[in-house]
Amino acid sequence: MTVTAAVAPQLMVNPRLEILGGHRLSGELRVSGAKNSALVLMAACLLSTQPLRLRNIPPLTDIAAMGEILGAFGVKVERGADWIELDGAHLTHSTAPYELVNSLRASFFCIGPLLARLGVAKIPLPGGCQIGSRPVIEHVRGLKALGAQVTIDHGVVSAVVPGRGHRLHGGHIHLECPSVGATETLMMAAALADGETVIHNAALEPEVVDLASLLIAMGGKVRGAGTPTITIVGVERLHGADYAVIPDRIEAGTFLLAAAITRSELRVAPLIPDHLGAVLSKLEEAGCSLEADGIGMTIRADRIEALDLRTQPFPGFPTDLQAPFMSLLATASGTSMVVETIFENRLQHVAELQRMGASIRMQGNTAFVEGVARLSGAPVQGTDLRASAAMVLAGLAADGTTSVQGLEFLDRGYADLEGKLNSVGAVIRRVHG
Ligand code: EPZ
Repeated sequence: MTVTAAVAPQLMVNPRLEILGGHRLSGELRVSGAKNSALVLMAACLLSTQPLRLRNIPPLTDIAAMGEILGAFGVKVERGADWIELDGAHLTHSTAPYELVNSLRASFFCIGPLLARLGVAKIPLPGGCQIGSRPVIEHVRGLKALGAQVTIDHGVVSAVVPGRGHRLHGGHIHLECPSVGATETLMMAAALADGETVIHNAALEPEVVDLASLLIAMGGKVRGAGTPTITIVGVERLHGADYAVIPDRIEAGTFLLAAAITRSELRVAPLIPDHLGAVLSKLEEAGCSLEADGIGMTIRADRIEALDLRTQPFPGFPTDLQAPFMSLLATASGTSMVVETIFENRLQHVAELQRMGASIRMQGNTAFVEGVARLSGAPVQGTDLRASAAMVLAGLAADGTTSVQGLEFLDRGYADLEGKLNSVGAVIRRVHG
């Protein structure tokens, strides 16, 4: 009887970034358009029968996914290098395919404009993700306040506007938490509703203000964006627009942290200081010097001090920069306290930093980070978009080589991160398979 030796399955390693740490950076990093604005602005195309052209669009996998989902509703999508044109003249469907929604939570933003335009929408529940359960109850409650009948059955949110004309009506909405997505969904639903809508306890994020600016450019009547009370007076129709998305404040913050963790001097542009107030304040508290020049900002860092950090809704410290900032604190002098208050499971990067020699003690949603002189390179895994970025930053400062897996997350929010960092002196290569 011949026995064939079992052939060890070829170890298929996921694509990863190999980072050789210890290199100082210098020069300028260019910031792309804001992912978390572009995605919701793309959904706004459903509100108009005329084409919407959005500029400063980042080349990210999430943007491509949103384009696919809009295409499934009948939107004609044309993409350029950093622009996208969306023509919603002839919508053919009001149901989003599950497999597409499952790949991109932000597709849930379509429910508001679809309801406003067609009076009907069926969107699978976006479901949770690594960082939390991500409920959408605030979106649903608000749509009901505007006259929609909403049921959730077998994982699908079905909404319909009863009555003649199937048109939403204005209303008063009190959000229980200042949800960014709920605020944006309800602004778009209210834009074509019959009457006035007031959203109380609205999110204050710059991406909400960007959406308001777009709706106004489309002929909408919106005031108060950026304050807790947003008033929208519905109009009969919205026309097309040609609009440039704001710079990505989270990418900009990540780049500032790349300079800080490598104790370098870098210019980051474009960057709107008001979009990053809490982050800039914490970087200065850590010992960095920052100089704005009207377009971008130059950061200089040599000694980094420990500090305490608590994530909050805007204008507080953004949860999306909590993990990247913790990488910096892992190399600071002294012990820092980091509290994550927005998402219930957004501290998974702690275990990965510990693999690199970070000294961190956990207590519920709080991490006590005792800075160490040098992190040591190791194979690590990014568990969500921003945790992956945090591991790249840690790798820049670590002794030796760090191998970061989880690029499927990273590529959702950072366009060619390794290319940009290598252009200022980092040594990173993307290894496939
Ligand atoms: C947006 O998500 C961003 N995503 C997130 O960025 C960001 O972390 C988050 O805002 C907070 O700033 C996009 O804009 C596409 P929320 P969103 O609704 O709208 C709770 C990234 O890395 N909540 O403001 O989903 C929720 O559980 C991503 O770029 C309810 O309780 O965030 C969370 O604890 C990650 N009920 C808190 O509010 C609801 O109905 C903030 O969520 C809705 C939300």
